[in-house]
Amino acid sequence: MNKMKVITLSCALLCMLCVACNTQTKERELTVREALAARRSVRFYTNDTLTNKELMDILWAANGPSRENRRTAPSAINAQDINLYVCTAYGVSHYEAASQTLRAVTEQDIRPLFMGQNKFMLSAPVTILLISDLKAFGERIPLEYSANLGRIDGGIVSENISLYCTSVGLGTVPCAPPMDNDSIRSVLGLDEAQLPLMYHPIGWPEN
Ligand SMILES: Cc1cc2nc3c(=O)[nH]c(=O)nc-3n(C[C@H](O)[C@H](O)[C@H](O)COP(=O)(O)O)c2cc1C
Repeated sequence: MNKMKVITLSCALLCMLCVACNTQTKERELTVREALAARRSVRFYTNDTLTNKELMDILWAANGPSRENRRTAPSAINAQDINLYVCTAYGVSHYEAASQTLRAVTEQDIRPLFMGQNKFMLSAPVTILLISDLKAFGERIPLEYSANLGRIDGGIVSENISLYCTSVGLGTVPCAPPMDNDSIRSVLGLDEAQLPLMYHPIGWPEN
């Protein structure tokens, strides 16, 4: 084989390897360490939607079932108080963690009830609303203290969402503006002990 042919073949091989590497990099989920370093608030999203599997994977990472009836997120006294509501322009579904299914709650777009100043969130294909059911802590714990625990539990689920989204290339931002809790409860059929905490718009990053 002459020298020119060897160089041409080597270049072709290198190109093929580069394509293979790029594909692998795009498809590979980031490690926890890489996701921690890459996490950032994303407020601009493309028009692309999420597949059902992509959504269910986010919900599992957020607070899905793990070993022995536990969840991916820890919770104070294992209350498992955080409930996830998937909100879109077409309605709301509740994430049934045990069966890993979605239960339709309403066809109403309730995002304006918790949007606050975050108008950008309407451009995200889905938003996950975190609500703590303070009843899960039991009657012996004073309401003020259980609300404190619920907020902490919500923060942990929030970080699960942020890190998982980052690891698979999705964009999100934790949002906790003042929300219209009474209206949210009314539309979703919740009681006074169910405390809306915060939400995560999620989509493919525009920037
Ligand atoms: C509890 C909490 C509430 C937040 N609420 C909002 C919000 O309502 N709107 C918003 O755009 N960003 C919100 N953020 C995102 C912060 O502004 C953001 O995390 C911060 O500026 C740091 O930027 P980074 O996430 O890119 O590191 C919130 C973050 C936290 C932790």
